[in-house]
Amino acid sequence: MDPLRVGVIGCGNISGIYLDNLAAYPETEVVALADLDLDRAAIVATARGIGRVLTPEQLLNDEAVDLVLNLTVPKAHAEINLAAVEAGKHVYTEKPFALTTREGRMVLEAARRNGRFVGGAPDTFLGAGIQACVDAIDQGLIGDVVAANAFMMCHGHESWHPSPEFYYEVGGGPMFDMGPYYLTALVALIGPIRSVQAMTRITFPERTITSEPKQGQKVPVETPTHLAALLEFENGAIGQITTSFDIWHHTMPHLEIYGTEGSLRVPDPNGFGGEVWVRRAGDAEWNPVQIGQAYSQNSRGLGVRDMAYALCVGRAVRAGGELAYHVLDAMEAVVRSGERGERVTLESWVERPARLAGEPFANG
Ligand SMILES: NC(=O)c1ccc[n+]([C@@H]2O[C@H](COP(=O)([O-])OP(=O)(O)OC[C@H]3O[C@@H](n4cnc5c(N)ncnc54)[C@H](O)[C@@H]3O)[C@@H](O)[C@H]2O)c1
Repeated sequence: MDPLRVGVIGCGNISGIYLDNLAAYPETEVVALADLDLDRAAIVATARGIGRVLTPEQLLNDEAVDLVLNLTVPKAHAEINLAAVEAGKHVYTEKPFALTTREGRMVLEAARRNGRFVGGAPDTFLGAGIQACVDAIDQGLIGDVVAANAFMMCHGHESWHPSPEFYYEVGGGPMFDMGPYYLTALVALIGPIRSVQAMTRITFPERTITSEPKQGQKVPVETPTHLAALLEFENGAIGQITTSFDIWHHTMPHLEIYGTEGSLRVPDPNGFGGEVWVRRAGDAEWNPVQIGQAYSQNSRGLGVRDMAYALCVGRAVRAGGELAYHVLDAMEAVVRSGERGERVTLESWVERPARLAGEPFANG
């Protein structure tokens, strides 16, 4: 197959690993870079030998670009995704898919209208760690899934991030920042979510930046920073997820899945590899589950590779827009449930994504 010609908009922190990986995959070729900050795009282009630096608008209308890879900041995602599909491009976006389901729906509908494919991060669930967990569940190692616990708790990002303000704005907070990894992994492992019931709070109404260059600057907190939610899955399993920027220390696992015949310890869903442990009903201790070599390191961009192949053979995309939208729907429902003090039923549904095994690129 000819490589899919990718144009990247947003040449910040996360772009490096995408550019490394997409250069190594035969299914993808990065042909142009764009950024609001053209100097930044030019520096990256020179370092990587990528010939073309364009404004975002030029890139969106460039004939040599098949897919727009949107690595901009969250509040720019939906607008660029929409413009890309309206311009006849496929698009793959960093998380979150959009800041609201209303915006997200507009992107999906425009993509459908224009016959374009949409995909979205995270693609960590396609990594060796979580795929080993998917296999373990599919092989019946823990029986039918009963429940799950997920914890992402820390004290926020103002101690290290140079511009942490957006983490405390609407559309930020620990749920929109880290929830996509956990919820996408849960959907990949258990299936779609039907409803949520949450309690949320803002513990510190103001944050003080302690990182450079904004040390001492105060940041008002506009969005919940501690969110605890119950998740009802379509198959009847009950999940609990806590995402927090209000916790100094804890000893909870990232993610555990409990079945009728045993328990599964899932690695950090913000990574591709990690350790997988299982303990069946009669086991005296936890036992390691072997994970594959391929995609056990940082493989951001694997979702784009899968998308390029899906476009070529005409099958569904694994890290697809419908999945990213379902996760957005769940995150928004958690925030809304916390505000209203009532259970919220999701309006979206998505099929559990297929395992990566069997694809020609499944082994690296
Ligand atoms: N940094 C990480 O470790 C990390 C990890 C996973 C995911 N992400 C996600 O990746 C995305 C980007 O994060 P980052 O850390 O690279 O941010 P960043 O601020 O380092 O880079 C974003 C880039 O996008 C550009 N940009 C912003 N708005 C734009 C617009 N409207 N048009 C064109 N360019 C625009 C900025 O100039 C900047 O160069 C975010 O959605 C984030 O959630 C980041």
